[in-house]
Amino acid sequence: MKKVVLDTYEEVCRAVADIYTEQLTKKPDSILGLATGSTPVGLYEELVRRHRAGELDFSKARSFNLDEYYPISKSHPQSYDYFMRENLFDKINIGQYALPNGEAGDPEAECAGYDAAIEAAGGIDLMLLGIGHNGHIGFNEPSVSYSLGTYLVDLTESSLKANSRFFGPDTPQPTRALTMGLGSILNSRRIVLMICGASKAPIAGRLFEGKVHSDVPASFLLLHPDTTIFLDKEANGG
Ligand code: PGA
Repeated sequence: MKKVVLDTYEEVCRAVADIYTEQLTKKPDSILGLATGSTPVGLYEELVRRHRAGELDFSKARSFNLDEYYPISKSHPQSYDYFMRENLFDKINIGQYALPNGEAGDPEAECAGYDAAIEAAGGIDLMLLGIGHNGHIGFNEPSVSYSLGTYLVDLTESSLKANSRFFGPDTPQPTRALTMGLGSILNSRRIVLMICGASKAPIAGRLFEGKVHSDVPASFLLLHPDTTIFLDKEANGG
């Protein structure tokens, strides 16, 4: 696990965007694993900027997102489908994209189909991750046991609270989600984790204890051969 500390969030976004430039130059038909949340917003802005400047071509690339609320309609402004279209897909020329379908009638069949589609695509070349305050990656919440493939998960109080700011009184917050499992994430050939802001310093500290803790899902990244963690100074403790 490689650790890179940069002064600001903007520098982290540019450094991670450089990895996309490198990846898509080397393999234009890369399979990208993508994430939602506030952390990647600045990265997506930088990718859009580079695309508009003619520096990045996504036309042969294909993406699979980590997770989606369940149930939720794709047109719901808080769905991750909507988030990705607003922040990235409507602004670049991505070849194809997929997210777990929050509208699926049969979530188990949806999860199996999602895993099969990732496998048929040849697996994920570059997986982007953020981290929750509770150490989750995707919606793999702290637990004593973990799923390998995509599954339907009950969100913990911590995740519900962290994301409640996006839901008003008239828009009930889904309490479950479809998420790639730790196995799907760890199967990715290369992983980039962004950790930014002072509020993430405590969980970053746990991660850098260098031990796999069952109560810190992100610590399983220690087992992966090509993971780089980008932090801003604040997340690294100031
Ligand atoms: P955040 O979410 O970027 O909004 O902090 C990250 C996550 O929960 O994975």
